[in-house]
Amino acid sequence: MRFETKCVHTGVDKDGTFNSCTTPIYTTSTFYWDSLENHKGFDYTRSGNPTRSAMEENIAALECGVSCRATSTGMSAITLVMHLFKPGDHIIAGDDIYGGTYRLFADVFTKWGIKFSFVKMGDIENVKSALTPETKAIWIETPSNPLMNLVDIQAVVKVASDADTDIITIADNTFCSPYLQRPIEYGVDIVIHSTTKYLNGHSDVVGGCVISRTEELAERVAYHSNSLGLGCSPFDAWLVLRGIKTLGPRMEAHQHGAMALARMLETHPKVEHVYYPGLESHRDHELAKTQQDGFGGMLSFDVKEGRSAAEKVMLNTKLFLLAESLGGVESLIEYPESMSHASMTLEARRAAGITEKTVRVSVGIENSEDLVADMKQALDS
Ligand SMILES: Cc1ncc(COP(=O)(O)O)c(C=O)c1O
Repeated sequence: MRFETKCVHTGVDKDGTFNSCTTPIYTTSTFYWDSLENHKGFDYTRSGNPTRSAMEENIAALECGVSCRATSTGMSAITLVMHLFKPGDHIIAGDDIYGGTYRLFADVFTKWGIKFSFVKMGDIENVKSALTPETKAIWIETPSNPLMNLVDIQAVVKVASDADTDIITIADNTFCSPYLQRPIEYGVDIVIHSTTKYLNGHSDVVGGCVISRTEELAERVAYHSNSLGLGCSPFDAWLVLRGIKTLGPRMEAHQHGAMALARMLETHPKVEHVYYPGLESHRDHELAKTQQDGFGGMLSFDVKEGRSAAEKVMLNTKLFLLAESLGGVESLIEYPESMSHASMTLEARRAAGITEKTVRVSVGIENSEDLVADMKQALDS
């Protein structure tokens, strides 16, 4: 099956009783046993639920992994993965990763004794020089949030496999979705998602998932997911499974609109810089062409005159809602400085290149001419 067909069919048909075409929502905490030894594959919803399994089967197929575990949020997916490590372990990550991930690493898990190095991962030499004998993982987020910097996935996988110690690679694939990028195909060991974003795609659920490349990792992930109690509810799993059915057409519409918007912004006199990998001017345009199957629906731009001008743009748009999050059918606009990246210190934001001029946009699936016209009037006003 090709990608769009898997989106619609994989994992979905789970009703042998009435042959419903969609997956039933099994709203039960527990399942009765046929005997003291036998049940029908599920005993308790924290450990497993047929609706959640349907969604997990679907996402594992899309990401080319052996298994997927669905969690209550993207952050709980990351929390789950962090439990594969122990105090003293060292992890390398980009300095411009999602603010919530940065906070979880730099604050919460640092207090647990896990050590992190945040480096500019666009230059693979920085990754190599951050290696220590304790390095156990390299965290990849590409394109990064909000400045759309790319990390060369294959180069990072090579650094990990060339190392003398066992290092696993983990990729947050939220921004691209498996429609545009499948890190496991490049040898990445674990992929995580905030399913809140493109996979669900309708801004009506928060969720996450962890996909493993090997059975060994899958077992460890499943064990910790059950032990920590991080699984998502059957209803949330059902919503995400329903959303995924239209992932392909939605991603095409998102990136069509993003490209049109990026081209307009690039020539607008009030805009200093546009961060969109689809533009020839983008630092990582060539890498995006080889590593991704498209350029995605996220972009950021710097407004020349700084915060007050940026604020006017964000308040004057009519179609772009001033809101955090991304990947939904409706276009959103936000200010990383006080919104999505407020959990980073000012110093960390500046080091990552996020300034008072930076505005981030999640381009929805509305008509691209309407979006361009609305953004233009907001900039001109
Ligand atoms: C790239 C990325 N990873 C992870 C997360 C966390 O996901 P959630 O908000 O579902 O916990 C986000 C949220 O914005 C994100 O943008």
